[in-house]
Amino acid sequence: MSGIKESKRGGFGSKIGVVLASAGSAVGLGNIWRFSYMTGQNGGAAFILIYLCCVFLLGLPVMLSEFTIGRRAHSNTMRAYLKLAPGTKWFMLGGMGVLAGFLILGYYSVVCGWTLEYLFQSVAGNMSGKEPEAFNSMFSAFTSSSFRPLMWMILFLLLTHFIVVKGIKKGIEKSSMILMPMLFIIMLVLIGRSVTLPGAREGLSYLFNPDFSKITSSVVLSALGQAFFSLSLGMGCLCTYASYFPDNTNMVKTGVEVTVLDTTVAILSGVIIFPAVFTFGIDPSSGPELVFVTLPNVFQNMIGGYLWSILFYILLTLAALTSTISMHEVVTAFMEEETRISRAKAAWIVTLGCMLIGTYCSLSFGLLGRVTVFGLDLFTLTDFISSKVMLPLGGMFISLFTGWYLDKKILWDELSNHNTLRFRLFKAYLFIIRYVAPVFIACIFLKEIGVL
Ligand code: TRP
Repeated sequence: MSGIKESKRGGFGSKIGVVLASAGSAVGLGNIWRFSYMTGQNGGAAFILIYLCCVFLLGLPVMLSEFTIGRRAHSNTMRAYLKLAPGTKWFMLGGMGVLAGFLILGYYSVVCGWTLEYLFQSVAGNMSGKEPEAFNSMFSAFTSSSFRPLMWMILFLLLTHFIVVKGIKKGIEKSSMILMPMLFIIMLVLIGRSVTLPGAREGLSYLFNPDFSKITSSVVLSALGQAFFSLSLGMGCLCTYASYFPDNTNMVKTGVEVTVLDTTVAILSGVIIFPAVFTFGIDPSSGPELVFVTLPNVFQNMIGGYLWSILFYILLTLAALTSTISMHEVVTAFMEEETRISRAKAAWIVTLGCMLIGTYCSLSFGLLGRVTVFGLDLFTLTDFISSKVMLPLGGMFISLFTGWYLDKKILWDELSNHNTLRFRLFKAYLFIIRYVAPVFIACIFLKEIGVL
């Protein structure tokens, strides 16, 4: 019975498709836009060092746990817990993931909309011959207006929608196979320009010379939140993707590849951005606008800048698109499988819901700018709740679930493909998801909200 239902679900068709789709989910605005401004706000190299520890010591093991849950259950993230832990409350962990997916996709789409505007402005030739200050005012004038950012946000969600509706192989896998290799090539070219700028030395030292006095609990929480955000962890996104993995996928290898690719892109985008920040005298801690004000300066100083700027914003858009697709898929798969409505209808509900969330996030830069909750504007609040609260908590409970609830044999079975692959660090992995990840995340979290 369940075999029939499962065979109706889509699936990825190739090994490289699995890696590129998962990496496509992971590599997105988080690596370029969010990583650079988080690094800037948290003091540079010291933040990056903690970020790297979080990625490899906590992120990778949690990723393997998500993979295991997803491929074992072959269903959306909430159903996965109902199948693997029937009669328990673990399904709420999946429910929280679906909710987080809604929130993150909502505010993420706003920034995706900004990239479309910048693409448009690049094509129109409005991105050259300006003083650094002019890009600053251009950005604030644009984001604080009401109509244009909303229009681009809605357009971006529609683009996402029409790919998700096409399904796993023809929509998600195919788009990732084309977009991801292109992204890498363009990044390499931009690095070539950036490291030859006059401020390169200062920028690189900011990135790679840690000042340990800058480390506080809030820096550690930010690094942890950023690690989960960048790797698409904590809300069942990679769990949903893993439910489409073929049985012969080597999940440990895939996990390592995705983590390394994602981290490389983040560090490289720091190498692109920070030399420019110091060359053009921009404050590294200026927040979410960092890449929209800095990068235009790099482009206008490049030979052929007009074309590079267009290409860059196309690729930023496409990298973002492979990520929005993955978030959309989490909620769409949930709606489709739990309510028995068609995939198309499910996708529409998700798209429209996210437009609503995107709308208040977008307006919080202008019309709703004075509305604050706990001193945070609505955009920052949505980011805070989803990526600094829900993702770390999700990561902690996913660790607890796989470390303590799930039978060790199931874990081994999935990660070794029924004992046909070697996974030498299995014991270390178990130790981390049982003790290190939950305790570490809980401490950071409690410290941050003032309990410890
Ligand atoms: N990882 C993506 C990025 O870096 C964003 C993303 C996609 C995400 N899916 C997610 C973040 C799930 C958190 C959870 O841009």
